[in-house]
Amino acid sequence: MQGRTLIAHITAGGATRMYADVIAETLRSRGLEADVVDLKREKVADLSGYSSVVLGAGVRMFMVYRKGKSFLARSDLKGKPLGVFLSSAMALDKPGEAREKFLDPLVKRNGLSPLMCDAFPGKIPLGPGNLEDKTDADLARKWAEEFARKLGEA
Ligand SMILES: Cc1cc2nc3c(=O)[nH]c(=O)nc-3n(C[C@H](O)[C@H](O)[C@H](O)COP(=O)(O)O)c2cc1C
Repeated sequence: MQGRTLIAHITAGGATRMYADVIAETLRSRGLEADVVDLKREKVADLSGYSSVVLGAGVRMFMVYRKGKSFLARSDLKGKPLGVFLSSAMALDKPGEAREKFLDPLVKRNGLSPLMCDAFPGKIPLGPGNLEDKTDADLARKWAEEFARKLGEA
């Protein structure tokens, strides 16, 4: 099933927005339609126009951003092909652990079965107001290619 994909995201430092944009570009380059929505600025009233959804969020102080968490609790998300990603410092060295710690509990709590669920490296706090950008656009490109492939099978 292929149609329009919503890429909803919530960012504080910008890493998640970059990843959302790369995912959208990658899907578009494969002929899919994709809308990028910043949940801080816009509400998504209705998911009925979307055949699939990607949710991206960052994490600070061990808390996934609130609007990302509440988005995953939406009842109209159930049954839609879904991709979930996180931007985090932990994911630089331990992406699997970051996924297990921050994403798996959210996915489980909401009874979701995402096609893809992964943690990407974000901006690493070095001190007050000092973030080192460790984002890797290539990871998101490959992730989106795999997501598109799975959508084709869904
Ligand atoms: C104040 C602060 C707290 C953070 N806490 C965590 C944390 O608990 N776990 C983690 O893996 N990364 C942590 N990080 C790194 C962020 O996840 C990283 O900056 C990521 O890029 C956030 O996504 P965003 O840039 O889209 O906001 C923290 C960063 C800051 C600035």
